[in-house]
Amino acid sequence: MDRRGFSYLLIVLFLPTIIGCGSPGKKSEGTSGRIKIGFLVKQPDEPWFQNEWKFAQQCADSFRFDLVKIGATDGEKVLAAIDNLAAQDARGFVICSPDVRLGPAILAKANNAGLKLMSVDDRFVGADGKFMPEVHHLGISASEIGKAVGRALNDEMRKRGWNIEETALCAATWEELQTARERTDGAIEALTSAGFPKEKVFKAPQKVADIPGAFDAVNILLTQHANVSRWLICGNNDNAVLGAVRAMEGRGYGASNVIGIGINGTDCTVEFQKNKPTGFFASILLAPRRHGFETSQMLYRWIKDGVEPPKETYTTGILITRETYQQVMREQGLL
Ligand code: GLA
Repeated sequence: MDRRGFSYLLIVLFLPTIIGCGSPGKKSEGTSGRIKIGFLVKQPDEPWFQNEWKFAQQCADSFRFDLVKIGATDGEKVLAAIDNLAAQDARGFVICSPDVRLGPAILAKANNAGLKLMSVDDRFVGADGKFMPEVHHLGISASEIGKAVGRALNDEMRKRGWNIEETALCAATWEELQTARERTDGAIEALTSAGFPKEKVFKAPQKVADIPGAFDAVNILLTQHANVSRWLICGNNDNAVLGAVRAMEGRGYGASNVIGIGINGTDCTVEFQKNKPTGFFASILLAPRRHGFETSQMLYRWIKDGVEPPKETYTTGILITRETYQQVMREQGLL
């Protein structure tokens, strides 16, 4: 190797140390002197995630740190966002990943860049398909919330005096994500243990976890079961149930023969505001404030004071309907 080649090798080897990337644990606090953290969400268009951002911002304003909100809709965007945060001297981030199987790659990249991280909503899984216990997480008590949906479907069906013979359950499912699977499984379990026949439970597996994804899946289901006169609907979230309700409307089913109950409560207010009731009967209102504010606060305190967050935190929900949503949301500081 000649002298130039040797100098080049030295630069390549020591450049990270020269520019300060060699000691990931010791980061500066940016030019403003304030701690900066990121908040990455998988579906920035969903009201649920906009609410998380809103409450994360409230946390940043009250504790005086900088918050960078990033819509990370695919794996490439997540990895680029982490590079970007590191380049901005951020100290950590909260993330709801577009794909939980990216967990090991996200953690490795964050560790490399000296960034602390917490997952929210969707928990990372490792190469073995199991949750990654080393990553701090805040999510919902998915199975319990699913069961609350199932119980409420059962209560409303009985209140209306529906004949079980003519009724079926449509579960718009997104089973590749555990929190989603636990929700629909929980609803099915509660309903069947209240006496609903298992053979009247029909799953509509979504290819994409959004309204059109549920609409398409439920349309297929309705073609297969054209003889059902009354439908109950459960799903992963409000959007799943909204897509199902729209598909049913296309086939002539409406408020009188559909009982749909969603999850989130943040993504169905427009539905409740419609002049006439639709098949979207109720939702379980989750706690977006806790998911946005509390995760940001935990991460901030961890960075600033070294207070490690609890490894796992699970939140609950409250049933809301067209009649009650305004009052409940007001009480929860959401209206
Ligand atoms: C998942 C869903 C969201 C919301 C959160 C709540 O990420 O996709 O719509 O329900 O869980 O934790």
